[in-house]
Amino acid sequence: MPHALSELSELFIWPHAGCNHRCVSCDIWQDTSRRELAAEDIERWADEWQQLGIKEVILTGGEPLMHRDLGAVAAPLRERGMALVLLSTGILLKRHAQQVVDNYDVVLVSLDGPPEIHDSVRRVPRAHQLLVRGLDAVRAIKPDLRVAARCTVHRYNYRHLAETVRTAQELGVYRFSFIPADVTSEAFNRAGGWDADRQEDLVISEDALPALDQELERLFTECADAFSSGMIQESPDHLRSYIRDYYAAFHRANPYPAVSCNIPWGSAVVEVDGTVRPCFFQPEYGNLHEAGSLEAVVNSPAAVKWRTELDVATDETCQRCVCFRTVDLPAGIGPA
Ligand SMILES: C[S@@+](CC[C@H](N)C(=O)[O-])C[C@H]1O[C@@H](n2cnc3c(N)ncnc32)[C@H](O)[C@@H]1O
Repeated sequence: MPHALSELSELFIWPHAGCNHRCVSCDIWQDTSRRELAAEDIERWADEWQQLGIKEVILTGGEPLMHRDLGAVAAPLRERGMALVLLSTGILLKRHAQQVVDNYDVVLVSLDGPPEIHDSVRRVPRAHQLLVRGLDAVRAIKPDLRVAARCTVHRYNYRHLAETVRTAQELGVYRFSFIPADVTSEAFNRAGGWDADRQEDLVISEDALPALDQELERLFTECADAFSSGMIQESPDHLRSYIRDYYAAFHRANPYPAVSCNIPWGSAVVEVDGTVRPCFFQPEYGNLHEAGSLEAVVNSPAAVKWRTELDVATDETCQRCVCFRTVDLPAGIGPA
């Protein structure tokens, strides 16, 4: 059973269903159900998660800080030695500053452009200003808290990549990354997927690819310091492929960039209703409430069969993936 998992190194959890940004790239904000992962359930599951070897839990969503008691979600995980990463819009950082510095090893905020572009992409007035105030508040308590930022690149911000990095530097982040926008999957609360018009609205059009090339070259020249300092870890060559070739592939101008990913063998996502997936884009394995344990869900006969048959190099969802990664796996476990 080489595809049965004896351990997981990381876990993504989605504590609150909705969001306080209204991003052009995402429909999660349309979920106003206020559904949440219950802190008592996390408390109940935490021992097993520790036994499974989970070292890092990334709280995402949705906006985790909208959870009515996120401190109680974090506590049992922290008590068991898991490192916590908070992925946030930043709007509520100021209100929850003490809880954030007490619980999180890294705060990863979304930054989708220089201030006015960020506000318009996220469709929230003063979103950037609230993010700055939030970061000031957490740093007033813990000046060396590690803060990272990420920008999802699409038609509404691709002409501002260098300014986005300058803005990230002003925010004092230690890491910054770019990711192309996924428009084809059902992730980001898009059951049934977006129709062609919605997809076309967000992607960088084929006509605009030369302008994207120019903007990327401007980024590499004007922000060379961000690359040499390690704030941006990806090389210019990687970003040319990851961002530019990705959008060119959407327009069938070249194949999708090659994917190297072992995430389904070392990671999982627990959604707000207990649904468990191998990653944000692939079909669900099952539900934690019904199966009773994470191990039972990720090692159900159907889940093991799915991993056995998964070829990330040819799988259509994997080929179009925008966030493929690798994690350390135990010997003998992993993609064929
Ligand atoms: C869905 S958000 C949830 C965390 C938090 N509420 C936030 O806004 O950062 C997680 C990340 O997904 C990114 N994202 C949103 N729409 C996306 C898309 N269509 N493709 C790829 N990433 C996307 C966001 O920019 C953000 O960095």
